[in-house]
Amino acid sequence: MTTVLPSLREDAIATSAIGNVESSLDKLSPNQQLLPLTAVVNSHDHLEIGGCDVVELVQQYGSPLYILDEVSLRTGCQQYRDAFTKHYQGKAQVLYASKAWSCLAVCAIVGAEGLGIDVVSAGEILTALRSGVSPSLIYFHGNNKSVDELIYALESNCTIVVDNWHELKNLARLAEEQSIEASFAAPRIMLRLTPGIECHTHEYIQTGHIDSKFGFDPNEIETVFAFVADSKLNCIGIHAHIGSQIFELQPHQDIGGVMVEWFKLAGDKYGLKFTELNIGGGLGIRYVESDDPPSIEDWVKTVCAGVTDAFNHAGLALPKLLCEPGRSLVGATCVTAYTIGGSKTVPDIRTYITVDGGMSDNPRPITYQSKYRAVVANHMSAALTQTVTIAGKHCESGDILIKDIQMPETQAGDTLVVFGTGAYNYSMASNYNRLPKPAAVVVKGGESSLIIKRETREDLLRQDCLPERLRQ
Ligand code: LLP
Repeated sequence: MTTVLPSLREDAIATSAIGNVESSLDKLSPNQQLLPLTAVVNSHDHLEIGGCDVVELVQQYGSPLYILDEVSLRTGCQQYRDAFTKHYQGKAQVLYASKAWSCLAVCAIVGAEGLGIDVVSAGEILTALRSGVSPSLIYFHGNNKSVDELIYALESNCTIVVDNWHELKNLARLAEEQSIEASFAAPRIMLRLTPGIECHTHEYIQTGHIDSKFGFDPNEIETVFAFVADSKLNCIGIHAHIGSQIFELQPHQDIGGVMVEWFKLAGDKYGLKFTELNIGGGLGIRYVESDDPPSIEDWVKTVCAGVTDAFNHAGLALPKLLCEPGRSLVGATCVTAYTIGGSKTVPDIRTYITVDGGMSDNPRPITYQSKYRAVVANHMSAALTQTVTIAGKHCESGDILIKDIQMPETQAGDTLVVFGTGAYNYSMASNYNRLPKPAAVVVKGGESSLIIKRETREDLLRQDCLPERLRQ
């Protein structure tokens, strides 16, 4: 018999065998959970995810270890897809924002669930293509795409979401050159516009306000439309993304109203027949108990209502509606398991407990002051008797993963598991202090498979060159 984690799971299912847990999972919106959907405590008092004992996973694969719950990821994809079917009369396509975690296995899972992929570099294009996703479902973003990257995307037949004049002119030139060489079809593009919609999130991850480095400014839209109408580019629609880790629904409700004006203007005045509207990503997740994001279904419902009302009101046919969730798809599907090392108590101030990773595998706390929740995976029901600070092993005082968390007594060798590390952890990981990047495994039905190999010490020297004259 296994138990789930009632105090940590919002929609607590008191006691249940794994089979029962899995059968009730599809009702839970993964982005509202602290833990992956399949998390339970097993008879050894260990945390188990996807039917795998986390302590055994660490014994097998080492630590730090990213553990991805396949059921949670597939459930999130299905909830996005099903919500569009239920709440939108037109066509829709969900694109996974792979900047959240770009690797072959994650792209392959979301691709198998019928999602397309949003990419922001040639590296992410390559990953999406190699994972088997059709190029017709790959949309290429970025505010400074190189000509080399543009050619790669065009030759691969991806859609390009054009961010600025520099890029637009480069693409128009490539389209002219290509019409001579006829080496690839007319570039399929969308235009990223800054909608002037503000939202409440960390200032580094707001993007829809006017003072943003992304997208065309509303003041220049008419000039952009005129330029595109006069070019050989095949412009299929417009895009906006207002920010990330957003809990309010109103900004996403408002996007439809702003975008429809531009949709109409492009058609009426410039003869541009747009068919697609992409409203970006941004739905937040629960990192700590006090976070209260809307469910995937509520978010989709709101977006669909906003777009449907706006287009009906303007007398326009409903566009194909695209969105690009990243965090809300992968964030809560993954945990990071660390091994606890030493500790230090500063009398009357705090106790530091150190783990074998830190800001190199999770740079979010030091970058955005992000908060996380953790448990000791080999003593799940032990009483929480102390308030401690979880420190990483990097040579930097700010390398603190969690400040002031309630924990049981711990000792060196215990397994600490931090939740909600699927989004922007591996993808923002570094080799700071020459730490090798961790391994990642996917778990499902009691089986684990490696999806990213742990870097070795030798891997760290892979790109180093020592010129002959510097050799000792
Ligand atoms: N579409 C575009 C154009 C984006 O720029 C982003 C995120 C997304 C979609 C996906 O947003 P999401 O659904 O994941 O919120 N490193 C930061 C987050 C940066 C987000 C960048 N753009 C963090 O760790 O919080």
